[in-house]
Amino acid sequence: MCGIVGILGNGAAAPRLVEALKRLEYRGYDSAGVATLERGELKRVRAEGKLRNLETRLADHPLHGAIGIGHTRWATHGRPTENNAHPHASDRLAVVHNGIIENFRTLREELAAKGYRFATETDSEIAAFLVTDELAAGKSPADAVYASLRRMRGAFALVYLFEGEDNLLIGARQGAPLAVGQGDGEMFLGSDALALAPFTDRVAYLEEGDWAIVTREGAEFRDADNNVVQRRFVKTPAGGLLAEKGNYRHFMAKEIHEQPEVIGHTVAHYVDMGAQRLKPFDWPVDPKSLNRVSIVACGTAHVAGLVGKYWIERFARLPVEVDVASEYRYREPPVDKDGLTIFVSQSGETADTLASLRYVKDNGARSVAVVNVATSSIARLADAVAPTLAGPEIGVASTKAFTCQLVAMAALALGLGRARGVLSEADETRLVGELAATPGLVAETLKLEPAVEKIAQKLSTARDVLYLGRGTAYPLALEGALKLKELSYIHAEGYAAGELKHGPIALIDAAMPVIVLGPRDPVFEKTISNMQEVSARGGRIFLIGDAHAAEEAAVTLESFLPMPDMASTFAPIVYAIPVQMLAYHTAVIMGKDADQPRNLAKSVTVE
Ligand code: M6R
Repeated sequence: MCGIVGILGNGAAAPRLVEALKRLEYRGYDSAGVATLERGELKRVRAEGKLRNLETRLADHPLHGAIGIGHTRWATHGRPTENNAHPHASDRLAVVHNGIIENFRTLREELAAKGYRFATETDSEIAAFLVTDELAAGKSPADAVYASLRRMRGAFALVYLFEGEDNLLIGARQGAPLAVGQGDGEMFLGSDALALAPFTDRVAYLEEGDWAIVTREGAEFRDADNNVVQRRFVKTPAGGLLAEKGNYRHFMAKEIHEQPEVIGHTVAHYVDMGAQRLKPFDWPVDPKSLNRVSIVACGTAHVAGLVGKYWIERFARLPVEVDVASEYRYREPPVDKDGLTIFVSQSGETADTLASLRYVKDNGARSVAVVNVATSSIARLADAVAPTLAGPEIGVASTKAFTCQLVAMAALALGLGRARGVLSEADETRLVGELAATPGLVAETLKLEPAVEKIAQKLSTARDVLYLGRGTAYPLALEGALKLKELSYIHAEGYAAGELKHGPIALIDAAMPVIVLGPRDPVFEKTISNMQEVSARGGRIFLIGDAHAAEEAAVTLESFLPMPDMASTFAPIVYAIPVQMLAYHTAVIMGKDADQPRNLAKSVTVE
């Protein structure tokens, strides 16, 4: 899941390539590089680590060509060194690659036997040498790329730049996204529309198996069988959006603080505020005929699915199974043709989630995608889209996308409940009112940040942390542990509070913080018993609950975060805020990069 970009412009391409790469750094930041043509000759500059290292290199060794390609890497094959950084090159071309070429070993042996010398540990160099070999056999650049595409297996996107061809870039998509942007006498390629936003808002998306021959005059799209096909250029909303941190130190902080607004937008998408009713949703199946619902997603989106399970089961009385996509896609589960599967994804490009959606479609069943990127592969493939209106999320950790996913899940659950006659009109109005109250409650909760920072100070010296919750606070405990791990690198576990006595209670000692998520819900009393079990064993309890929770718990607390009073049903949307702030501040106190944690990438387009 790297970010790739190509520019056929009129001025120097390198600064614009870097500008685009800044918008793609969410896809990986292990190394970066650019290549341009100067008087027809290929020139490359690459650097290990984040993009700023490449910028420093380029300041010392500027590139002047008006055509070029760029790459920001999330390492899969080969260490994150400068040598393994893209673009990869032969004496005939340079290429940038996102994804994995699965049969690279066989192809590498074949090419090595022909005398090609590999300079890197990557699978991507194959993509350079395969085309070089076809060129050496006398093929044109387009024919050489097409012949090579037929030989590579896996999920990838590529952009090629050819020595001596200053009006040609060739891009290809097979399982990883690629967009073509149309400017004024200029053309662009990029992993997404956001990367191209500084240059154009007119974008066409390659379909699965497509490849495109791009010149300054336009793009010719061809499908996997080499037929010329039409791919429409559309005006994309990403064109107006600038990825800026504003006054915040990190994108993550900005995105946490945007939540009252974006949750409000998402609620307003699903709810007619005046009537206190749900807006109609275009279900791809009749909700009354459903026997069950499946939810498939990865990471934090999977957690949103777990919360959704509680809501759908409660409001619609439908059994729900929730799967991580990497398991679902290979388990070959039986798919009920009359069932409904909900896919949850911020990026809409997560490889495992996308593959699971394809599996469901191939089995003739219907799908709804809860997605944030409206133009993404998952959004385009699903039968219906339930959008989250979080706006672009740049921080690697999912924050505002998560709470907006929760809102969309809540709206879907309520919609199913109403359509199936489980919820009455009065229930709908009451619950919609509770959902509409969440942006205000989130805003109130954000004021607790100084108190959260004090707790984070304590967490920052811990080696392990345990998060506990019951009911919908259980998935939130999983989310708390995931956030803390990915941002601070402190080991953390999330557990169902009632499960504690079946094993993890053995971990309780005076060193490990135990964070209890205790909204006032019908199982809060049970959570109190679990806190007492921890307290009896000398555990350090950090309680996040409403104003009276501490008093009622009647245990020694190391810390208490008093949350606003609220109806419990949609509490996860509000309790997500301290969970996110806690992980963020712990990471910042520990000097970690909260926006770009080590080893991670925002959009996981490899499996
Ligand atoms: O784009 P998606 O929502 O499909 O991404 C899924 C996960 O990769 C993502 O939620 C990941 O777990 C986040 N880094 C968590 O903060």
